[in-house]
Amino acid sequence: MRPVDVARERAQTVGVRHAHHLNSAGSALPTVAVVDEVVAHLRREETEGGYEAAAAVAGRIEEVYASAARLVGARAEEIALSDSASTGLRVIVDALRLDATSRVLVARSTYVSHALHLLSLTRETGAELVVLPSGPDGAVDLDRLERALTGGPRDVVCVAQVPTSSGLVEPARDIGALTRRSGAVYLLDATQSVGQLRIDVDEIGCDALVTTGRKFLRAPRGTGFAYLRGDFLDRLTPVAPDVRGAVWTGTHQWTLAPTARRFETWESSVAGRLGLGVALTQLLDRGVEATEAYLTACGARLRRGLAAIDRVTVQDPPASRSGIVTFTVDGLGSDAVSRRLAVRGVRTVSVPASHGQWDLGLRGVPAVVRASVHVYNNDADLDALLGAVAEIARGANP
Ligand SMILES: Cc1ncc(COP(=O)(O)O)c(C=O)c1O
Repeated sequence: MRPVDVARERAQTVGVRHAHHLNSAGSALPTVAVVDEVVAHLRREETEGGYEAAAAVAGRIEEVYASAARLVGARAEEIALSDSASTGLRVIVDALRLDATSRVLVARSTYVSHALHLLSLTRETGAELVVLPSGPDGAVDLDRLERALTGGPRDVVCVAQVPTSSGLVEPARDIGALTRRSGAVYLLDATQSVGQLRIDVDEIGCDALVTTGRKFLRAPRGTGFAYLRGDFLDRLTPVAPDVRGAVWTGTHQWTLAPTARRFETWESSVAGRLGLGVALTQLLDRGVEATEAYLTACGARLRRGLAAIDRVTVQDPPASRSGIVTFTVDGLGSDAVSRRLAVRGVRTVSVPASHGQWDLGLRGVPAVVRASVHVYNNDADLDALLGAVAEIARGANP
């Protein structure tokens, strides 16, 4: 494995010259090549027109499916491009047609938008919603999950591999082993893990996976993709097929696309998708294993450094090993800490409990400061965070 060349990554990332950007879990810095690709396509649309420009790059858009599939160990037909992870999961969940006999088993790591969708759907349909307990390490309690599964596809298990609110990594493969054995549907939200952890959908055993472009993939905003396992796809009928996902064949007839594209919409940012393609290629060239090793090591270093600062509490549960690190400062709201860090040129975010009631809310933590690394972050970035947090914890204001 060739280690990440941080100097090279920094040389191709304009944003590193402006601040210590520790917010890849929000939206990472793209490379120059990604931005150039997007801008070039917008220029092409300006001169040729949107449809003509799209036709000219149709072959390159096909390559985006192939790269996304390669990244997660899938086939290109099993990939649907979307504008976000939330849209990706919503259309899949809607296609499951939950009813009063369904049971939705959610991990505490579930993201706010997915939770709100599942809460409203289960309320409307009478389906049961079960918030799965976590074990002492903060991850899904596998024994309790096994006992909660009743057997068969009326059980739908929904897990975020890495949540928005901590560095936790859920045991995605172990969960997959249990859902496979019981026949439950397994939906994996890999929004915070694709691009930072090695993922193989067959090893994990999920039926569907969703992710977004702007985070660890370093792709443009408004991009994302979903994976739908071939034989799972056959069981899904989109609630609202679009001209992209179906052909209207007669007055009352239509046929769905045979591939995951039945979940796509006609309208999309072609420029953004081309940018996603470049970001995927760059990640595959850099190496997912090397990326994971680097981000994991940076995350561990930050957790150790933060734990050594007086009045600072690392809020990550024991099963945290990703490049996302969360913490609080005694006596100071996380919003204020994040703002004071920004004044010092360190970009983080404050994640409130309203973004994760089943995680932060149930833990009784009103908000955490979240720092998240990427391959362009160097020692100076990590030291800048630790130094600034120490100063703020000593009472520096702003
Ligand atoms: C774990 C997790 N899942 C899903 C999402 C939603 O992604 P998107 O905004 O692309 O829909 C986020 C966004 O922060 C997230 O952190």
